[in-house]
Amino acid sequence: MGLFIGFTVILSCTNTVLSYLPVEAVIFDMDGLLLNTEAVYFKTHSEICKRFNRTYTKEVQQKVMGMQPNSTAEIIVNILGLNITPEAYRAEYEKLIGQRLYSIDLMPGVRKVTRHLYFHQIPLALATSNTAQFYELVTAEHKHIFNLFERIIIGGSNPEVKNAEPAPDIFLLCLERLQSLYPELRAERVLVFEDSPQGVLGARRAGMQVVMVPDPTLPKEYRVNATKVLLTLNDFVPEEFGLPPYKLYAMKDEEKRYTDLVIDE
Ligand SMILES: *[C@@H]1O[C@H](CO)[C@@H](O)[C@H](O)[C@H]1NC(C)=O
Ligand SMILES: *[C@@H]1O[C@H](CO)[C@@H](O)[C@H](O)[C@H]1NC(C)=O
Ligand SMILES: *[C@@H]1O[C@H](CO)[C@@H](O)[C@H](O)[C@H]1NC(C)=O
Repeated sequence: MGLFIGFTVILSCTNTVLSYLPVEAVIFDMDGLLLNTEAVYFKTHSEICKRFNRTYTKEVQQKVMGMQPNSTAEIIVNILGLNITPEAYRAEYEKLIGQRLYSIDLMPGVRKVTRHLYFHQIPLALATSNTAQFYELVTAEHKHIFNLFERIIIGGSNPEVKNAEPAPDIFLLCLERLQSLYPELRAERVLVFEDSPQGVLGARRAGMQVVMVPDPTLPKEYRVNATKVLLTLNDFVPEEFGLPPYKLYAMKDEEKRYTDLVIDE
């Protein structure tokens, strides 16, 4: 039975056509892509806006997704016409959310994709627009995943990231950092995983391919710039991007080695 499954997989692999440029390194976004943060953000923004008799809508949420905290506060205050300064809004927001970020879940498929690529020695990096303070808080429970990244760019606390997404700055800096390990790496050989339209556009402007895993409610017109759109990370097909395929018959072995590697699971 095991052998039969193995043969099936090998056959289907050789039949698979490479659909996109082959990939040599992968950059992951964090909020909403690796971590299910958006639900917590939405609840917190809604609460603050409600105090001003305004409704924090999905439309506003889509405008601020992937933005740095300062821009987020400014956009919300301006769009909804809140009678508060962006600085005061941000302070209020951080006060509320600080207590809610310790136990955020991983999104579906995160373990599968990150560990598979790590196992096959594909260089992995993280690019988040959030701040270092947020990063420490939300990743504390998930170090077994975040330790897999060779380079981590925390845009909200990094003065080298001059312009927020949809500018390409954060992705170009991340590429530069990866190039210190892999000097031959080029932007077109980097694949970015993103959930937000701003992040997708930033990565495309950096010359990279982008797999988008958007919030299911995100309208179609916000997805147009992605190289490929997936429902969840579980639907990623590595060989379409020239990456090693999942091999069902080897999975057990891989899982075992991961478990050996990662003792806190
Ligand atoms: C919000 O609306 C309620 C009911 O209309 C009103 O009593 C309250 O004063 C308003 N609050 C603000 C901050 O505008
Ligand atoms: C964000 O705003 C704070 C307070 O106004 C300011 O000190 C900080 O430099 C700003 N950060 C960025 C990245 O713009
Ligand atoms: C898609 O890319 C074009 C060209 O850069 C840009 O003008 C447009 O705003 C982008 N759409 C979205 C939804 O990001």
